Amino acid sequence: MSKKRLAVAGAGAIGRMHMERARLHPDCEVIAVADPSATAQSVAQEHGARWFSTIDAMLDAEKPDGVIVATPNATHVEAGLACIERGMAVLIEKPIADTVEQARILVDAAAQARVPLLVGHHRRHSPILRRAREIVASGRIGRAVSANALATFYKPDPYFDIDWRRKAGGGPVLINLIHDIDMMRFLLGEIVEVQALTSNAVRGFEVEDTAAVLLRFENGALGTLTVSDCAVSPWNWDLAAGEAAHYPRQSVNTHFISGTDASLALPQLDVWEYRAAKGWHDPLTAERTAPHAGDPYHEQLRHFAAVIDGKETPLCSGDDGARTLAATLAVHRSARERAPVAPSC
Ligand SMILES: NC(=O)c1ccc[n+]([C@@H]2O[C@H](COP(=O)([O-])OP(=O)(O)OC[C@H]3O[C@@H](n4cnc5c(N)ncnc54)[C@H](O)[C@@H]3O)[C@@H](O)[C@H]2O)c1
Repeated sequence: MSKKRLAVAGAGAIGRMHMERARLHPDCEVIAVADPSATAQSVAQEHGARWFSTIDAMLDAEKPDGVIVATPNATHVEAGLACIERGMAVLIEKPIADTVEQARILVDAAAQARVPLLVGHHRRHSPILRRAREIVASGRIGRAVSANALATFYKPDPYFDIDWRRKAGGGPVLINLIHDIDMMRFLLGEIVEVQALTSNAVRGFEVEDTAAVLLRFENGALGTLTVSDCAVSPWNWDLAAGEAAHYPRQSVNTHFISGTDASLALPQLDVWEYRAAKGWHDPLTAERTAPHAGDPYHEQLRHFAAVIDGKETPLCSGDDGARTLAATLAVHRSARERAPVAPSC
């Protein structure tokens, strides 16, 4: 496979992280960056990439093999369409769009133009999550009955100096919990009903700081999710899975899937089951399946290069991204209307 020439739109926090990963990657290189901000030009220079102030100018001048869209959410659809119109494969950061309607415009355009569209729900590329999915799909846990996830952490006060992080849409449901919702869909399938409560009681911003969510899956399983950005706690995937060095790793489980034959706790991949008689008076056995550590962002780049080559199909398609967004937006709607919501996509 030839090295893929990638362009990056948006050289902010995650755009720069993709560029760092690409620098060390055998399958791709970043040849251009589009971002009008004052610092983007020097970021591009540092990476030996050409700098442009607009996405259109970059795509016309460089004709990259693929584009990573890492701009703010509200610009994802416009940026994605600019790539699709030119026949360029896109890796679009999550959430795929601000609304399900906008997401559909992008998904339909990509399908019509036959351009690959990959959504950056990077956790799907984690070896831990992939192994968990295999365990669930193998039937070892039996029929899934419940799923419980914690995403509780403490964001430092300066995080909220940026205006949009205090406003509707800038909170932990759309920024963080969306990843856990995508994980749940990846493991257990479609979510057909959502009920939620949200609270801003601690930080007092317009946006929520805490949410509690109930889920019903199409396969009949029920789930609970808790997210909070003002809770001092180790129970969240970023701290527990140890996938990024800027989070100090904690030895805890955060996601629990229980079935009629066994239970699975993540990220430590503990499988709990009965080896002989089955009943709550009988001894339970715990087995830990530790996969090799892996960097999901690095693996996502490998996958994107393979998708560009037509060798793999997107692990998180545009349609998947839209369905995860629909379930996430249903959290806000259910909390607002104080009623159950069926995510519609
Ligand atoms: N998958 C992940 O782990 C992950 C983590 C963080 C953020 N994200 C997502 O990535 C996106 C960016 O988040 P961030 O935290 O890096 O934001 P950020 O504010 O740090 O960076 C965004 C950058 O985009 C630039 N930009 C704005 N409009 C542009 C345009 N029209 N064309 C080109 N550049 C433009 C800005 O100047 C800025 O440098 C968001 O959608 C966010 O949800 C994903």
